[in-house]
Amino acid sequence: MANHVHGQPRYTRRLMLRPFRRRDVGTLHEAITASVHELQPWLPWIDGYDKGFAQRFIRESVGSWSEQRAYDFTIRPLHDLERHIGNVSIWPTSHQNRTGEVGYWIRSEETGHGYGTEAAAVAIGIGFNELELHKVVLRIAVGNVASEKMAQKLGFTFEGILRDEVKVGSQWLDHTSWSILDTEWAARPTDLWIDDAHA
Ligand SMILES: CC(C)(COP(=O)(O)OP(=O)(O)OC[C@H]1O[C@@H](n2cnc3c(N)ncnc32)[C@H](O)[C@@H]1OP(=O)(O)O)[C@@H](O)C(=O)NCCC(=O)NCCS
Repeated sequence: MANHVHGQPRYTRRLMLRPFRRRDVGTLHEAITASVHELQPWLPWIDGYDKGFAQRFIRESVGSWSEQRAYDFTIRPLHDLERHIGNVSIWPTSHQNRTGEVGYWIRSEETGHGYGTEAAAVAIGIGFNELELHKVVLRIAVGNVASEKMAQKLGFTFEGILRDEVKVGSQWLDHTSWSILDTEWAARPTDLWIDDAHA
């Protein structure tokens, strides 16, 4: 399995994705603050969120990238590169089995335009083409219909239910587990895809 993911920006028709920089704290914090109510039901780290979390996240993200543990991207629209509209991450979970996982969120005012699918496709493409993964997994809290829809649009296959998988606030949430294989990704119908990233 390869480990290297270059840090140059990636572009789609509407978006730019790049690694976080320390000066992104303000735009990240602003986007999370504007999205708290929609992120809260699904993401464990929102509980007790404050700006210090954003600072620690970026510090950890820069370290994880250089140590080749995880690759987090800030998602920005091409028409306003100063605006952070979400995160997408890809990280290896088993080198021996060449498996990895993808995760994402989109700023609330920007949902429903296909940005989540467009950005996740870049991260998954990096997983297969650069990290040489065999399988990418996606875990989604039961009831998170928008994310399930995204999984379907991206070509993932439903695998089953993981009981009490993640504690969000005071509640343990069951999650559905989804996956896509390298062969399936390579065979995906190209007309489903908005644009592949070009570096
Ligand atoms: C899930 C999330 C990333 C989707 O982002 P997005 O940019 O809106 O995603 P897309 O527009 O690419 O696709 C969303 C799809 O879900 C559909 N959808 C959204 N809410 C829905 C609902 N309540 N019921 C049915 N479908 C819904 C949209 O119509 C769209 O499908 P379409 O393209 O066929 O119209 C975003 O809602 C989000 O950040 N949610 C909170 C955090 C989160 O859940 N992260 C993922 C954890 S696994």
